[in-house]
Amino acid sequence: MTRIVVVGSINMDLVTLAPRFPAPGETLMGERFLSVHGGKGGNQAVAAARLGAEVHMVGAVGDDAFADPLCEGLAEEGVDLEHVARIENCSSGTASITVAGGENEIVVVPGANALLTPSHVAKAQHLIANADAVLVQMEIPLQTVEATLHIAHAQRVPVILNPAPAQPLPVAWLRLARYITPNQHELATLLGADASEDFRNLMRRAACPVVLTRGAEGAWFREEGEPQHQAGFAVKAVDSTGAGDTFNAALAVFLHESLPIAVRKACAAAALSVTRLGARGGMPTTREVDALLSRQHA
Ligand code: RIB
Repeated sequence: MTRIVVVGSINMDLVTLAPRFPAPGETLMGERFLSVHGGKGGNQAVAAARLGAEVHMVGAVGDDAFADPLCEGLAEEGVDLEHVARIENCSSGTASITVAGGENEIVVVPGANALLTPSHVAKAQHLIANADAVLVQMEIPLQTVEATLHIAHAQRVPVILNPAPAQPLPVAWLRLARYITPNQHELATLLGADASEDFRNLMRRAACPVVLTRGAEGAWFREEGEPQHQAGFAVKAVDSTGAGDTFNAALAVFLHESLPIAVRKACAAAALSVTRLGARGGMPTTREVDALLSRQHA
């Protein structure tokens, strides 16, 4: 069984479905509201667990009404919570999400996620040392991301750094990651480049191997040489929230098979994830991924 450690955020997603996105200053009547479990870290943990991995989460929740349901939701998916801290006098992370026409807009308030420190990661060192891959994103403090990269690198465990939400990062950090998995905008931000620059040029300039996500167009990947393309899988998109998280999780779970295979399966898993509402609603099992792969030859 593939062993994955996820270091990242846990959020309650407060989702409003709307006919379109409101303009600044405009009040719009929405169609439906739901609260579902999210956070890039929690989502990647659940996606990896559904794909059959043994998953250990390093994260933090507060002591509010969201904390217990968020932890129960992860536990029900089989995610190990030994290293999820409960922070007193603190709210859990929240994400206010508007979904319109299958796309989303998100505002995150980190709450307890902002108090996940390098020492929390250090306490999980033994798990990281025995992992097949580590997943980390950027909804937690940057020094905690850095500590994760250093600890995993020292143990020769591959780290997939999902640089979302985007911020410029020191080149030395990128060299510690086995892969970075930005979209075009995130890669430009990471490199301090212009977002209109051709993404293939950006990929060639990055200091480490890049797997770049392109939504419905699939993904591009480059270890060295020229970037390679993996086409996307055609599905009816209901909600794109969590597609990137599903992609990252699948990449980590299937990495041992080869990078091209892992990227293909990650594209299929991400496509399935957008067919249902909520970040975790459409996250597939390995059987569902295999069924899509045998139906569609992207
Ligand atoms: O990647 C999707 C996630 O981003 C949502 O679940 C939300 O919590 C935000 O963190």
